[in-house]
Amino acid sequence: MALPEASLCLDRLLLSGFGANYGKQRSLGLVEHRCGLRTLGNGIKRCGFRSVSFCRTDERKNLTKRSCFLRCKCQKADSVSGLTADDGRPTSLSINGKTNVNNVQELNPLFQSDGEGFTDGNTNGVGTVDGRKIEEEAWDLLKESVVYYCGNPIGTIAASDTSGSSILNYDQVFIRDFIPSGVAFLLKGEYDIVRNFILHTLQLQSWEKTMDCHSPGQGLMPASFKVRTVPLDGDDSVTEDVLDPDFGEAAIGRVAPVDSGLWWIILLRAYGKCTGDLSVQERVDVQTGIKMILKLCLADGFDMFPTLLVTDGSCMIDRRMGIHGHPLEIQALFYSALLCAREMLAPEDASADLLRALNNRLVALSFHIREYYWIDMKKLNEIYRYKTEEYSYDAVNKFNIYPDQIPSWLVDFMPARGGYLIGNLQPAHMDFRFFSLGNLWSIVGGLATVDQSHAILDLVEEKWSELVADMPLKICYPALEGQEWRIITGSDPKNTAWSYHNGGSWPTLLWQLTVACMKMNRPEIAEKAVILAERRISRDKWPEYYDTRRARFIGKQSRLFQTWSIAGYLVAKLLLANPSAAKVLITEEDSELVNAFSCMLSANPRRKRGQKGFKQPFII
Ligand code: GLC
Repeated sequence: MALPEASLCLDRLLLSGFGANYGKQRSLGLVEHRCGLRTLGNGIKRCGFRSVSFCRTDERKNLTKRSCFLRCKCQKADSVSGLTADDGRPTSLSINGKTNVNNVQELNPLFQSDGEGFTDGNTNGVGTVDGRKIEEEAWDLLKESVVYYCGNPIGTIAASDTSGSSILNYDQVFIRDFIPSGVAFLLKGEYDIVRNFILHTLQLQSWEKTMDCHSPGQGLMPASFKVRTVPLDGDDSVTEDVLDPDFGEAAIGRVAPVDSGLWWIILLRAYGKCTGDLSVQERVDVQTGIKMILKLCLADGFDMFPTLLVTDGSCMIDRRMGIHGHPLEIQALFYSALLCAREMLAPEDASADLLRALNNRLVALSFHIREYYWIDMKKLNEIYRYKTEEYSYDAVNKFNIYPDQIPSWLVDFMPARGGYLIGNLQPAHMDFRFFSLGNLWSIVGGLATVDQSHAILDLVEEKWSELVADMPLKICYPALEGQEWRIITGSDPKNTAWSYHNGGSWPTLLWQLTVACMKMNRPEIAEKAVILAERRISRDKWPEYYDTRRARFIGKQSRLFQTWSIAGYLVAKLLLANPSAAKVLITEEDSELVNAFSCMLSANPRRKRGQKGFKQPFII
């Protein structure tokens, strides 16, 4: 098997001892999966392991199902990782049972040594007998959604909908969709799948990717990937598993997934926190992967703002919805990923500049969002009375917002108690829509202050019937209608008012809501949302999203058995049963950052420009 030309991917593999080449082998009833890394004639790179499976031909076509008994003779991701695989421990998934990894008790800080195993042993504090049944069903479904690569679990399929709706790319493993699955597995003590996912997606990071001859930055992580089982060298009886990533070059709208790398960093930290095993994040190739993502995000551009400038559709909302510019969701994930990376980057001279840039960005970003994205009754009233066209360094209305753009819905929507971070900010433009994920993850990652975080949850309580209604949680509020919908979405029939990304309700958001509630010690809000979800979610077959203002209908084009709806529910239940487990996802400012932030505040040109004598620990 020819190994490819020198590439970063190869470097990584060599570093990790990967790329072993095995001879061809055939025997009755066995189908061989050869693995390694090579460039095919059509330029597609293939990376994998060799395994031997007892699949029938029809079964082989669908390796995402567990129906094939796979006996892997090749290196597992463990040994790719140089971690622990060679100690002969079994690596199979035992989701409802106790894990078969022997040293879990030592490694997992969430493990209780009272014979009950994980503290999530009983997650039914919230529900009734029905709740228990729903939870059991969810674990079974999650287990069935697992995708295998050369016999090892590597991710979860986006949806297992067999109802006849077109599959599109829902049969792939999406990076963002896997995060709640990964967290559920971590909290349950199933670590292998998460480790495999982290290491294999890392290898995809340096894939050659182009769209019409143009390549995006090196640190880009794919939106999704598919495990394909293909005949090896034209021989139908010998197959190999290959990973086929999509960086947006095949995705509807050709959008680059900015959020994938950020989620990857967040999951990597959670893996370390949950297992207590830091050897994965300390690996040279993983450190390189973190740095590549950071370099891409921290690269200089034309911007005046510290927020990341991205195109429409670069995150969970992956089609045109008027969120291009500096959408809150990306900024919240960016901030959280920067904090996570800061914790994990090995202190070495080579990283000093990167760490300095990272620290500077953290301070500038939190200042910018907290100051300019925040809105509540008081701030709204300020905007309402803004003077415009201020040419000066000390302008109050820095972005030249015309008060007339305050939408009429907001005047009624804004409660006396509570506030939120707006969706986007550009010159002369504030997108006042409420985006749930951005607001929730600003709480989780600490981009919002403590007061702001409480105020966001206050708003969720005050506006329950608008934001939650019959099914948690609206992706954004309100929906775009009429002419606005035509112009902003390009008349997208999937994104009609109160459907899909345009004000649809997404059960997966339950998990982010729950993490945020746990951080702020307000579990009752998440509990109420979970109870509501339990009324319908299983009966409705775990839809991807719900439609209408009150989320009363299963979404028009919603997939059923959507994995992140299932996993999101499970994470919410696990956290309600064991709130302290939320700490694997939460980040807080340390005193160094608080200090730098207050220096920045006192130097705010809103107060006085060019103030002398303040101590500045970072170059801002
Ligand atoms: C849709 C969603 C996207 C998700 C994907 C797979 O495209 O907009 O966020 O990752 O489906 O579930």
